[in-house]
Amino acid sequence: MSDVTNYSLADFHYNNNPDVLAPPADFEAWINHPKVQQAFSFTGQQLLKAPAAQTEILSNIDGKRRPMINMTSYNYLGLSTHPEVIQAAQEAAAKYGMSSSGAPLVSGTLDIHVQLTKMIAKLKQKEDALIFSSGYGGNVGALQAIMRKGDFIIFDEKSHKSLIDGGVLSGAKMLFFDHNNMQSLEQMLEKAKGKRTLIVAEGVYSMDGDICDLPGIVKLSEAYNAPIYLDEAHSSLMFGEHGGGIGEHFGLEDKIGINYGTMSKSFGGVGGFIATKASLARYMKGYASSWNFSCAPSPPVTAAMIKSVEVATRDSSLRNAMWANTRYMKENLQAMGADIGDSNSQVIPLIIGPSGEKLFSYTAELQLRGLFLQPIDYPAVPAHARRFRISVSSQFTKAMMDTALNVIEDVIIKGLKTSRTP
Ligand SMILES: Cc1ncc(COP(=O)(O)O)c(C=O)c1O
Repeated sequence: MSDVTNYSLADFHYNNNPDVLAPPADFEAWINHPKVQQAFSFTGQQLLKAPAAQTEILSNIDGKRRPMINMTSYNYLGLSTHPEVIQAAQEAAAKYGMSSSGAPLVSGTLDIHVQLTKMIAKLKQKEDALIFSSGYGGNVGALQAIMRKGDFIIFDEKSHKSLIDGGVLSGAKMLFFDHNNMQSLEQMLEKAKGKRTLIVAEGVYSMDGDICDLPGIVKLSEAYNAPIYLDEAHSSLMFGEHGGGIGEHFGLEDKIGINYGTMSKSFGGVGGFIATKASLARYMKGYASSWNFSCAPSPPVTAAMIKSVEVATRDSSLRNAMWANTRYMKENLQAMGADIGDSNSQVIPLIIGPSGEKLFSYTAELQLRGLFLQPIDYPAVPAHARRFRISVSSQFTKAMMDTALNVIEDVIIKGLKTSRTP
């Protein structure tokens, strides 16, 4: 291994070590190298307070407590710490306890699960919904439930791992189209012609912040009779006049066969959901293993998510604040010459290029200057486009944004211009 920085986790998963309990020797050599240790020192960074816009960490660099402006969490609408949401969770914990204590079909369904399910279906303008204990589990369970060996699933190449894993579990043949490229999607649809086929795309792509070409996808979906599965993890409650997501944004909700979302981002909680027609929802309840073989979502979280949907949809104030902050951040980042890719959402990549060393040294300097912005490394993003990723929140104040922008300019923009590694 000449240069450890040329390697990543993508290189060590498959190995033929006869002892399945022993990590491969080359992985051990790589992970213990000081440069790799430095990179991994930023993973699992402990937060000592809520992941709000202002938080505190126990620094992995020097073990000190540090107040931080937090631009790395998915708490886009600040609902994780909204007083009404917290109160709903507290009341539910007192009334129902901490666990649903059963799978939904057996003994785990509470009245609040039914209530939340109806609210999600209404938000997505569908007949019914399923709520899962995890967002990851929602995608895996939904795809595994409806697709089979002999079917085709055509994914945007930037699809989240939970979608890919669902595809693998389903046994369907998996094809990938070039990111958001309708010509490439059509080529894949031609390959799958005559087979049961599902198109999988995301509303907002989580590493780039660009939105899918839903009108283009709908056109091809209709031409090839291939329904659409849309992952709206980063667009639910954010896009559309009523927070319905990208489907509502384009006025194409009814063209989406299955609309998926997670409650770990704008909703400020945890858990996943799908919304679809009633007959399919009923079918999926029998076959989505992560739904029917897994405990129903925890009561405090369920009650909190009911309140989150209520707060986020009773008016558009949180959404408007988040969009105003997104515009402010983007305008200023662009003015200082930052490469923010093709973002047209609250997810703003700050692309720094191929150097892992720069990525991690900038991470440390940002942290020491009070800005919590976690590095995104290959293989999560292409090796030539390592980056930071700003998650804009309605909670940011102008003072926070100005401070953060100054730090970004000093550390990243000036660093890249001078090729300096701090
Ligand atoms: C596009 C997308 N889908 C699904 C998920 C899984 O959601 P969760 O983290 O709530 O399990 C994520 C999480 O980051 C995501 O970005």
